[in-house]
Amino acid sequence: MTPAAGPPAEPPATGRAEAPAYRSVAVFGGIYSNHLALRVALADARARGADALFCLGDLGAFGPHPDRVFPLLREGGVTVIRGNYDDSLARGLDDCQCGYTDPRDNHYARLSYQYTFANTSPENRAWMAGLPREVRFRLGDLEVLACHGSPRQMNEFLWESATPTHFLRKLAREHCCDVILGTHTGIHWARRLGERSWYVNAGALGRPANDGSTAVWYALLEAGSAGLSVEFVPVPYDHEALADEMREERLPEEFIETIRTGWWTTCLEVLPGKERARGRY
Ligand SMILES: [Fe+2]
Repeated sequence: MTPAAGPPAEPPATGRAEAPAYRSVAVFGGIYSNHLALRVALADARARGADALFCLGDLGAFGPHPDRVFPLLREGGVTVIRGNYDDSLARGLDDCQCGYTDPRDNHYARLSYQYTFANTSPENRAWMAGLPREVRFRLGDLEVLACHGSPRQMNEFLWESATPTHFLRKLAREHCCDVILGTHTGIHWARRLGERSWYVNAGALGRPANDGSTAVWYALLEAGSAGLSVEFVPVPYDHEALADEMREERLPEEFIETIRTGWWTTCLEVLPGKERARGRY
C-alpha cells in the first residue's frame, strides 16, 4: 500500500524514544513574515520528498502581516524552534534581541519590531511562548541539533568568514551532536567538519541573501550511504506582491528595496568584511 500524499507524517518509529529519525528534511531559516515565500517553500519541500519540515525561528520581522505565517506553519506540520524575535514577542520584551550594535541598524530593527509586535495577535504570541530553544532528531545515523543562533546562544551570529572550523567542532562535541543546524544571520552556508559532522546555516526565507537575486533560500538535507548531502534550494516567489503589501503597511522603503533587488540596505554593520563585500552597500 502506498502512503497517501499530504503534509509530512509523524516521524517513523526508530527504537530511540528520545529522538525521531528521518531520511530527508527541509530546513527553513528566518521567515520574517514572508508568508508568500513560505507558502512556495512548503510546496517545494513536499514535492522534493522531504519527510519532515523544520523552521529555525524568527517568524516575524521585516515583512508585512506577521499573523499570516502561523497557520501555514501549523497546517504544514512544521516543527518550529524559538528564535530571538519569537522569544522577544512571546515575553513582551522591548526589543528584538537581534544583537545589533550600530545606531542605524538599531533604528531599523526598532521600526521592524514595533510593527511586528503591534500586528502579532496575543494568541500567536502565546503560541511562540511554547516553542523549544532547540530540537534534536536523527537523520540516517547522524545526531542533529537544530537551534536558532548557536547551541550556546540564541542570538549568536555564525558567519561563514568569521567562524573557525575548530570552534564549530567544539560546539558539536560539547553539545553531543554530529550536525548543527542554525540560522539568525540571514545568509546560508555549510561546512563539513569531519567525516560525519556538519554545520549548516539554513539562511532565510524572509529576505534575499544579499546576492542581487530576489529568490530566497532553504536547506534540504538527505542522509545516504555516502553520508549527509546538503543542498541549498532557491525559492523564487511573487516578491513584487510582497513589496506591494509592505508599501501598503507603510514599512520602510529600504526594506522594500531589498525585497525588489536582492541587496541588503539595512542591518549591514553586523556583516563581516567578506560577507559585506559581496553586497552592493
Ligand atoms: Fe535571529
